Amino acid sequence: MPIYLDHHSTTPVGERVLERMLPYFREKFGNAASINHVFGWRAAEAVERARQQVADLLNVEPQAIVFTSGATEANNLALKGVLRASPAGSHVVTTAIEHKAVLDPLKRLKRQGYGVTIVPVNAQGQVDPEQIAAAIKPETVLVSVMWANNEVGTIQPLHEINLLCKRRGVLLHTDAAQAVGKVPIDLTATNIDLLSLSGHKLYAPQGIGALVVRQGEPRIRLEPLFDGGGHEGRLRSGTLPVALIVGLGMACEIARDEMLSEADRLEHLARQLREGLSQRLTGLTFNGPPDIPFAGGLRTRLPGNVHVSFANIDGVALLANLKEIAVSSGSACTSADPEPSHVLRAMGVPEALSLASLRFGLGRETTAEQIDFTINYVAETVNRIRGQA
Ligand SMILES: Cc1ncc(COP(=O)(O)O)c(C=O)c1O
Repeated sequence: MPIYLDHHSTTPVGERVLERMLPYFREKFGNAASINHVFGWRAAEAVERARQQVADLLNVEPQAIVFTSGATEANNLALKGVLRASPAGSHVVTTAIEHKAVLDPLKRLKRQGYGVTIVPVNAQGQVDPEQIAAAIKPETVLVSVMWANNEVGTIQPLHEINLLCKRRGVLLHTDAAQAVGKVPIDLTATNIDLLSLSGHKLYAPQGIGALVVRQGEPRIRLEPLFDGGGHEGRLRSGTLPVALIVGLGMACEIARDEMLSEADRLEHLARQLREGLSQRLTGLTFNGPPDIPFAGGLRTRLPGNVHVSFANIDGVALLANLKEIAVSSGSACTSADPEPSHVLRAMGVPEALSLASLRFGLGRETTAEQIDFTINYVAETVNRIRGQA
């Protein structure tokens, strides 16, 4: 098997997470909404324990957690939920480097008559809070800015953006799928209104996530995406996947305990990879902000992310020749006619460089030996292909 260096795409379920989940598939099965017997009570108890674990990671009250199938659904619930509960013609501000799970729901809302403004980013993928402020209009009800970018790892100045939204009386949503469990997030300190998270990015299973909805006044009005049994405070009807929720809770508890040391370890490995590639190869551009840990007290990029463009090489040939490592390319798809990613395009990366880019996503099982192998393997492959050109 190739070495797995694609942890922004998905992560394996942690061993302790799986262990905690397994009983809920068979001996402890039950519907958390069954109020008449012990099977239901036990399932409901497990769900509430997990809700507390998720809440503890984000320093928020458990009532704020609405379990969903993942970050895509959480983003849809936040965006469609807020806009459909607002007057016709309401307006939302977002950025050019959001995940498709934000940009595509907004495209649909735009077709349905809502206003959408997309704010650009700089060459490092950072959004300027002043530009967000300038895009807010009287009819703006929501701003949506991702916490950490899934391609180039840029962390946005969410605290500043939150303050300006609060000043203007506009709700703030953040897609934090890549950030939760990787960098500290304190929702009581920041009081951000809506936050999306995804289990499978933090060693919980695929198919579970949450939307965190700020409690208290002024109350956030959200239209649910679908109707049914009225679960999750009527915001997300559907029988709760108890085992998946238990897994997410456990993953959050582990992240809370281990996140800071793991972030340091990943930063170290990322530096090893960047420096190793730079020593062996010319014509490299590292995308995203420079690696300044805790600039002004805050991280500027996601630990474990390395995104690099290679000059003078065909991107398709490069990826086709890197079978011993599992990484992502800088293109939107791997078809015969790849498109540069919208993120790199928004950052102004030239098309040929975008297509010859690799995203390395280091994770919990990544070792220094794997990084050494990767440096040699990528350097040899790039030199070989360049030599043939
Ligand atoms: C930033 C971001 N948002 C949303 C998603 C979608 O998450 P999910 O797979 O949980 O729907 C991803 C995952 O690719 C992501 O990286």
